[in-house]
Amino acid sequence: MGCIYILLIGLLLHVTIPVHAWKQYRVRRSIDLSASNPLIPDTKLPSDLVPINYTLRIELNVEQLSFLGDVNISMTCTKRTNQINLHAHNDLQVDEVNLDVVQYTDNGETTAIKIRRVDRVPKKPLLVIYLHDDLAAGGVYEARIQFKGMIWENTEGLFQGKYNQLNGDNIQDHSYFATYFRPHNARRVFPCFDEPAYKVPFTVTIVRPKGFHTLFNTEVESTEIVAGNKEADRFKITPPISTFTLGFVVSDLVVIKYDDEQTNIHPVIRIWARKEFHESLKDASTKIKSIMDYLTNFWNASYPLSKLDVVALPNFASVKPADNWGLIVFKENELQQGYYGITQELVYQWLGSWITPFWWSDAHVNKAFAGFLSASTAIEIDKGLEFEGKWPMTILYSIYYEFSKRYPHSRITAMKQETTCSKTELVLRMLNYTLGEETFRKGLQKFIRHREYKTFVSNDIWEALTKQAHLDNKLCESATVNEIAESWVTKDRIPMVSVLRAYDKRSASVTQRLYLRERPHDVPEQDKMLWWIPLVVVRQDNLNFTNSSATKWMKNIREVTLENLPDSNNFIIVNPEEIGPFPVNYDAHNWNLLANYLLTAEGRAKIPVYTRAKLLHDAWNLAYAGDLSFATAFNMTLFMQYERNHLVWNPVFTLIDHIGRHIDMSAVHKKFEIYVRTLLTPLYEELVQDQLEGEAKWKTNLRSLAKTFLCRAGYKPCIEEAQAVFKNWMDSPEPDLGNPVANQYICPVFKWGTQEEWEFGLQRVINFPESRMQSERTYLLKTLAGCPIQASKINRLLNITVLDNNGNFTDNDISLIFKMLSGGSNGYMALFKFLQQNWDSIKLRFKDQEGLWDNLINSATGLFTTQEGYDMVSQLYVQRQGEFGTAEYIIEKSLKNIKEETKWSDENLPVIEGWLDNFLKQHKLSYEKFIG
Ligand SMILES: *[C@@H]1O[C@H](CO)[C@@H](O)[C@H](O)[C@H]1NC(C)=O
Ligand SMILES: *[C@@H]1O[C@H](CO)[C@@H](O)[C@H](O)[C@H]1NC(C)=O
Ligand SMILES: *[C@@H]1O[C@H](CO)[C@@H](O)[C@H](O)[C@H]1NC(C)=O
Ligand SMILES: *[C@@H]1O[C@H](CO)[C@@H](O)[C@H](O)[C@H]1NC(C)=O
Ligand SMILES: *[C@@H]1O[C@H](CO)[C@@H](O)[C@H](O)[C@H]1NC(C)=O
Ligand SMILES: *[C@@H]1O[C@H](CO)[C@@H](O)[C@H](O)[C@H]1NC(C)=O
Repeated sequence: MGCIYILLIGLLLHVTIPVHAWKQYRVRRSIDLSASNPLIPDTKLPSDLVPINYTLRIELNVEQLSFLGDVNISMTCTKRTNQINLHAHNDLQVDEVNLDVVQYTDNGETTAIKIRRVDRVPKKPLLVIYLHDDLAAGGVYEARIQFKGMIWENTEGLFQGKYNQLNGDNIQDHSYFATYFRPHNARRVFPCFDEPAYKVPFTVTIVRPKGFHTLFNTEVESTEIVAGNKEADRFKITPPISTFTLGFVVSDLVVIKYDDEQTNIHPVIRIWARKEFHESLKDASTKIKSIMDYLTNFWNASYPLSKLDVVALPNFASVKPADNWGLIVFKENELQQGYYGITQELVYQWLGSWITPFWWSDAHVNKAFAGFLSASTAIEIDKGLEFEGKWPMTILYSIYYEFSKRYPHSRITAMKQETTCSKTELVLRMLNYTLGEETFRKGLQKFIRHREYKTFVSNDIWEALTKQAHLDNKLCESATVNEIAESWVTKDRIPMVSVLRAYDKRSASVTQRLYLRERPHDVPEQDKMLWWIPLVVVRQDNLNFTNSSATKWMKNIREVTLENLPDSNNFIIVNPEEIGPFPVNYDAHNWNLLANYLLTAEGRAKIPVYTRAKLLHDAWNLAYAGDLSFATAFNMTLFMQYERNHLVWNPVFTLIDHIGRHIDMSAVHKKFEIYVRTLLTPLYEELVQDQLEGEAKWKTNLRSLAKTFLCRAGYKPCIEEAQAVFKNWMDSPEPDLGNPVANQYICPVFKWGTQEEWEFGLQRVINFPESRMQSERTYLLKTLAGCPIQASKINRLLNITVLDNNGNFTDNDISLIFKMLSGGSNGYMALFKFLQQNWDSIKLRFKDQEGLWDNLINSATGLFTTQEGYDMVSQLYVQRQGEFGTAEYIIEKSLKNIKEETKWSDENLPVIEGWLDNFLKQHKLSYEKFIG
């Protein structure tokens, strides 16, 4: 094989751009095991022929919405074979008669190769050319293929789009023709090796009607007139590129002229849009330039092409922009938004086009990288305005919740892709912190330099970071970033860390294990799961959050000891600022030191936002998981009375919701609601006072969240306001014509309001006119069922929908009602009793409707969490033995779940109640003191 490579180098030396395409055909495994990416299934081509370059000509026929093309593909043979396999979509018609294969001889001449036959493989996007004689390894060949295809409406392959524009008093129709090749739609437009690893130069000519112009990856080299009132643009040869980054746009869009335009700058950036939209994009150029500058600086490598065309394509329907190299095509409004979206596409110009993931499995690391880099770039440039600090918290929390389930991603594969990618993004963030920004950046700079115009597998990134980290002494020689990354990326799980301090010895024992939030914690093989975990430690006697390097790494081992810690008057914080994506537990004393410190103004000022949020979030979730006493977790919430930062507040709402549901059955719930009101009222009242036009988004969101949760917890002013608004509707002469009440008021009225108010809502559903938006009816029905706490309202609803067989309600409605009732204890309790009391009539009613029957049993029995609940359900189970039919297994499952939940309740309810009693007592005392 070696000789082929030498031959290739010889052939390619005269090309000015560096071409190392052959080097990519190494067989290497990446540590990313999601290789069989189910979202991008593909037929891989045999590698015995690899492309050297393409010459491609495409002629549009816009009247017939079709195109004609021919392509000459030069290839080198790496292994003796008698067939040439190419990707070609079924939609593409290949002229099998006028198809030639030639061999290049040493003196530059060509000789024809005899073709036996040409086949299209059924159901596969393949074109196979069978030859009479074998092609010889080391030989250079060229396939010359003519083909034709269609221009489609949807954005795969070559598509047409339209827009209209005012010209004087007339509205004029315009068309454009553009391509979208990611991930593998180039094969819809020409036969090719449609895999990201095949990066070779393209020489392209596009023939278009006069009056249009064509944008392509590279600049136009020459234009000539051809028959049929058309013009042919021949473009400069591209650097080695993957087929999915090839693209063009044929349109009459106009380049935007900017006042501050500079000439002679590299690269030339041009923004294209319809004339009427130019004004809306007046910021776009500055924005793009500042991002380009930032990225150029980050990579320490200027943009590799001489130009970048950015297109705002009207009525472009694609979910993602088309990130062709040198030609990015956005939806119009995407160019008006903040920095993040645009940065992501610009990042892909380096990471994706210049260096390219070897295969789609490596694309996930690429995507994670682009995500991380775009977020940090956007935050750096606009000082966090766009994110309001939400990155990385939003993805971090979803990872905490998803990966701590007993069965992560049990439902959706697409979600698995997304969360795996987010996790990798967070691992990159962790490395950036622990290796240090400088080392991280330098490592990446070397990586990209080393792989320019080539492909990479994820290991290449980790190797580059390892080298740099060793060079800079940021990682001990025995450790590699590969090992660190592997321990995080290959598992659909995350760890939790427990810190148990030995105050007398000034040390702490630190252990790691699988983080599970849902119970029971019976995940198999968890004893084998270990991670490389950086222990970044902050201490109260030397509070400093700027040093983010690890005091110690837990190298795939279960337990380590931290030495030289402060005394028992001083807390420590491990993993501040959510540096690594894992929760941390402490002994009760350390938690209480933290809780007390956060109650002081000094404490809240000195502990930064992400760390405050983390301490609270970890404490509650660890308590929820059964790893920490709720009394300690509640202690950690006390400082929220004074907390005003939305990032610390955001997770609290989720927690109130989760815990609220869990204790919903018991008397403790009332006390919990009083506590929630105590926490939220000062926040809410302050936010109402501070309300301003044009305030920051987070403020509006926080106010509305606080209000929703206060209303739920029975905050008086909120209920009265809701009832006042609702009264307008009740007083209206024709209430079925429309609903004047904003959604936020409806639930509080149905929950806390009178039977009459609720009944009024019910009548509106029954009399809901066909002509109105059915989603409004659905919303009403959902709230009628889901909000009330009084059994009488629920019974009434069940009476008329289930027993009376009222024809105004469909099976879907009934199913929805059951689902809503399972959302809270008042609901499922009422449903259970209803079932018990009307067993025979209900059975009769649903005798042919297994689905509804199963839903009913599930909603009525599945959600109890206490021993009383267990007793009730098991009594019904015994009493009606053999009568459950299809739902037999459902009630059995319910009993099993309730047992587990009961364990939780037995352990935690007394603790929660004790803490709340104590708090309420103290609160009342101090309140009375205040009055006195
Ligand atoms: C494409 O490759 C062939 C074979 O190496 C070579 O003869 C030809 O000049 C190349 N074409 C271009 C445009 O580089
Ligand atoms: C392919 O090669 C043939 C023979 O040299 C030539 O006639 C044809 O124009 C070439 N096609 C393209 C797209 O360059
Ligand atoms: C905090 O740590 C950083 C990095 O170790 C150091 O440069 C800085 O001086 C420290 N600040 C204080 C107040 O100790
Ligand atoms: C909660 O905080 C109080 C006051 O600091 C303390 O007395 C109590 O022990 C704490 N509870 C737990 C379980 O840590
Ligand atoms: C529901 O129907 C039962 C029997 O038909 C009746 O006793 C009960 O009062 C009704 N409940 C409501 C709230 O309408
Ligand atoms: C719909 O409800 C109204 C009022 O309760 C009732 O009179 C009518 O019969 C119902 N329609 C059907 C089809 O059951």
